[in-house]
Amino acid sequence: EPTTPVLVAVDGPAGSGKSSVSKQVARRLGFGYLDTGAAYRALAWHVLAHDADTSDAASVLDVLGDFDFSISLDPDQYWVRVGDTDVTDAIREPRVTDAVSGVARVPAVRHAATTLFRSLVAAADRPGVVVEGRDITTVVAPDAPVRVLLTAAPDIRAARRSAELSGHDAGAVADALHRRDAADSSVVDFLTAAPGVQVVDSSDLDFTQTVDAVLDVIAAALPPQ
Ligand code: DC
Repeated sequence: EPTTPVLVAVDGPAGSGKSSVSKQVARRLGFGYLDTGAAYRALAWHVLAHDADTSDAASVLDVLGDFDFSISLDPDQYWVRVGDTDVTDAIREPRVTDAVSGVARVPAVRHAATTLFRSLVAAADRPGVVVEGRDITTVVAPDAPVRVLLTAAPDIRAARRSAELSGHDAGAVADALHRRDAADSSVVDFLTAAPGVQVVDSSDLDFTQTVDAVLDVIAAALPPQ
């Protein structure tokens, strides 16, 4: 008899290691992985593809009607599509990253996204799904059995981001990261843990240690499977 997948909610700022850690946690547990930021990025890509203004709510809502989004929940086979177009790489381009806070700020967009994320989890053919974003612990799944806020000190996050983007100026990367943090945190607060949310600070942990710390939180919260 099908049961509802267990939802593991992971929030955190850019550069906290959230995406790679969540993906690896999902692999280790045989769970699905849902990158919610990809939905906001794909919508920003879609708005730009229409030559519409990503900072104008009415323009964003105009193209929301024909936004045909799909995403893989398989941590080993990650892809994102809009209609028939594979946008997995395109949604990481700086022009999309710069535009995404504008579309993510529109309340009707957030409402539609929340509904979509819940239905994707409910339909997943896995025992659980690790759902990663900014408002998963607070808005999308405040009742999830496991809720984690993955943080790291701002200078560490900036250093990790500039290591990922080799060849970019470290100072410029840090500035862009802090600007996006400021824009995003005016919409949802992902820098402080809501009551009941477990903080995992990865500042002094490497990747494997961070994965293990999140797995420990999950093991403590979930009955053995
Ligand atoms: O995690 P990311 O950088 O891919 O997220 C892209 C943008 O989407 C980010 O600027 C904030 C927004 N976002 C959000 O508002 N709520 C979420 N649950 C996930 C992402």
